[in-house]
Amino acid sequence: MILVTGATGKIGTEAVRLLAGQGLPVRALVRDAARAPQDGSWNGIEIAVGDLDQPDTLDAAMTGVDTLLLISPSVPAQEIAAIDSAARRAVKHVVKITNHKATADSPVDRRRDHARIEAHLKASGLAYTLLAPNLLMQNLFLVTPMIRQTHGFAMSAGDGRFGMIDSRDVSAAAAAVAADPTGHEGRTYLLTGPELITYADVAAELTRALGQEIEYRRLTPDQHREEMVRAGLPEPVAASNAQVFGLIAEGDAAWLSDDVATLTGHDPRGLRTFVTDHVTAFK
Ligand SMILES: NC(=O)c1ccc[n+]([C@@H]2O[C@H](COP(=O)([O-])OP(=O)(O)OC[C@H]3O[C@@H](n4cnc5c(N)ncnc54)[C@H](OP(=O)(O)O)[C@@H]3O)[C@@H](O)[C@H]2O)c1
Repeated sequence: MILVTGATGKIGTEAVRLLAGQGLPVRALVRDAARAPQDGSWNGIEIAVGDLDQPDTLDAAMTGVDTLLLISPSVPAQEIAAIDSAARRAVKHVVKITNHKATADSPVDRRRDHARIEAHLKASGLAYTLLAPNLLMQNLFLVTPMIRQTHGFAMSAGDGRFGMIDSRDVSAAAAAVAADPTGHEGRTYLLTGPELITYADVAAELTRALGQEIEYRRLTPDQHREEMVRAGLPEPVAASNAQVFGLIAEGDAAWLSDDVATLTGHDPRGLRTFVTDHVTAFK
């Protein structure tokens, strides 16, 4: 049995679907069963209702599980609770979505958080595999209202390049490892798209697909933080996001890897495929 947490999120939803599509026994941990996809793509999938903030709800979901695909909003207490439950229930392998730049002394809080979780996982004695994606293309859905209203979007990533990945390829890589973790113990895989791009490239691709000019407006990190707060993000989240975008401007996300193809046997999708597949979301 494979248990997927964060199962209703960008990476988890598709990972659950792919695992079930291979005929593997899969259980999706959700806070609210009503948030499971209603389009039939999860038909026949076992749903376990549990909350990562309530550790006593996790052991039942973890019972009989061989492999845990651990995805969360990167809150240490949540993932540590899941790891401890996995250890109590003798789970054999944990596949964790993490951050490539996770270190205990990172200036970015969410990277320090991932480093804490990784340290706990390594100390648990459980076999594990770490998957570290570059920026997700699906993050672009956050700016769809701005694109619709202003025919453009604003970011503070300057002309920094990044190896942006379609989250469907993260899901495919995660499903491949979770389906058969043998040989992946103790390994870290870096998951990226096929090319380094900038937000100017994103604007150009949207312009092509939508048939109208989409502008990339360059902000300073301070302006970007203020804009995100105005859009409703809590101040600490906005500050952390702006900090990351400032780092991206300096080349922090300009890394590529072949690991998606190695794990899945197919090349990762490029930006054009993502935009073409989702063009109606931007209209
Ligand atoms: N976005 C990026 O560019 C990027 C890049 C690299 C790494 N990552 C990493 O990817 C991970 C996030 O994956 P994602 O983008 O697929 O997630 P996501 O779309 O943000 O979804 C978060 C998931 O966590 C669930 N969740 C939140 N709180 C929960 C709780 N208390 N108990 C149970 N479930 C809970 C949510 O469930 P509900 O539906 O109930 O809210 C949802 O299924 C993070 O570790 C992040 O650091 C992201």
